[in-house]
Amino acid sequence: MQTLSGKKILLGISGGIAAYKCAELTRRLIERGTEIRVVMTEAAKEFITPLTMQAVSGHQVASSLLDPEAERSMNHIELAKWADLVLLAPATADLIARVAGGLGNDLLSTLVLATEAPVAVAPAMNQQMYKNIATQENLATLIRREFIIWGPGAGEQACGDVGPGRMLEPMELVHHCEEFFQPRLLSGQSILITAGPTQEAIDPVRYISNHSSGKMGFQLAEAAARSGASVTLISGPVNQRTPDGVCRIDVTSATNMHEEVMKLAPEHTIFISCAAVADYRPECISEQKIKKTKDKDAMTIRMIKNPDIVASVASLTEGRPYTVGFAAETQNLEHYARNKLEQKNLDLICANDVSVSGQGFNSDSNALTVYWKNGEHVFPLTSKNQLAMELMSFISEKIQ
Ligand code: PMT
Repeated sequence: MQTLSGKKILLGISGGIAAYKCAELTRRLIERGTEIRVVMTEAAKEFITPLTMQAVSGHQVASSLLDPEAERSMNHIELAKWADLVLLAPATADLIARVAGGLGNDLLSTLVLATEAPVAVAPAMNQQMYKNIATQENLATLIRREFIIWGPGAGEQACGDVGPGRMLEPMELVHHCEEFFQPRLLSGQSILITAGPTQEAIDPVRYISNHSSGKMGFQLAEAAARSGASVTLISGPVNQRTPDGVCRIDVTSATNMHEEVMKLAPEHTIFISCAAVADYRPECISEQKIKKTKDKDAMTIRMIKNPDIVASVASLTEGRPYTVGFAAETQNLEHYARNKLEQKNLDLICANDVSVSGQGFNSDSNALTVYWKNGEHVFPLTSKNQLAMELMSFISEKIQ
């Protein structure tokens, strides 16, 4: 991801043990093309020296509001205006309280007051201090004022306590910065996505399903939300965390999914059908558990066709969203995918070869070939996370 290239981050370090991680954080951000200026509180200097931070950032570190020398090179108002993002890491309970209280009693708190840039806060403190109602109320105040809060993590602390309050690791903060600067390619779009398998009941304890884990669909939902879209995710039974900012509706069978999708599709601008929907379901669901009998060596379950969800959406005459299907194939990828594109009247189809190990069902990576009427595009094997971001960027160009 090149989202950090050329971005200007003002790193505000306050006096907590996690300050020592700021050298690593600075190096990782600079590696990605970020320009960093560092401001330290007096207490921060007890944990990491300004000389270290100057060496890794390549710029003089500012710490005093009343330092004529520092004010001559870039005064605090210029510094506040310079930043695209102010990152307070580590943000101690004291710094959080001062910022929540609107104090300007040192250079760092003054800069926070003076900047128009978004401010991200990475809390770091003892778990009891973090849980303290005063800290919680201060954080709630910052959230209300649209500060961004990253973390804290939980685990063993420098003081030996265990609990929430650890500053996120440098790479976790780098990823948050990358996401923060991710271009909002789909802002203004509302995207409906289906994910996971469907379960078609045979009796109260048995069903027919498939190996879809929901990973691909959930990554798509996360990528869409990160790209600025409002996202509704309709999922079959899976064990996946709902991505932040995504509205999730759980369903079980293809008919449930069909019903929910048809209710919501006309309110959305894009529909992505990633779910592995069962094509057929048992015609009759036994009310009681079907018993094994001595005299029968085989049993027959008559199956009937499920509604084709993506085709129903694509045939809407009013409120038809831009409609994207998936094709899970084990042979003749292009031939079968193009047939589905045409027969289901789709705008785009994303074909994956699910016969290759390490991609398709239940893997963390995937490769796709996307077909539309007059073209195709190959997305080589990569993580489903990365692939989802690439696909969202591709779709955003297609709907222009
Ligand atoms: O969930 P994962 O483990 O991460 O795996 C991801 C995946 C392999 C499930 C995903 O990448 C994928 O290929 N999803 C589509 C699976 C599928 O059902 O493909 P299909 O070729 O059978 O169906 C074609 C299209 O019609 C799909 O968009 C499907 O959602 C849709 N369909 C199918 C049947 C039906 N009754 N209604 C539908 O809408």
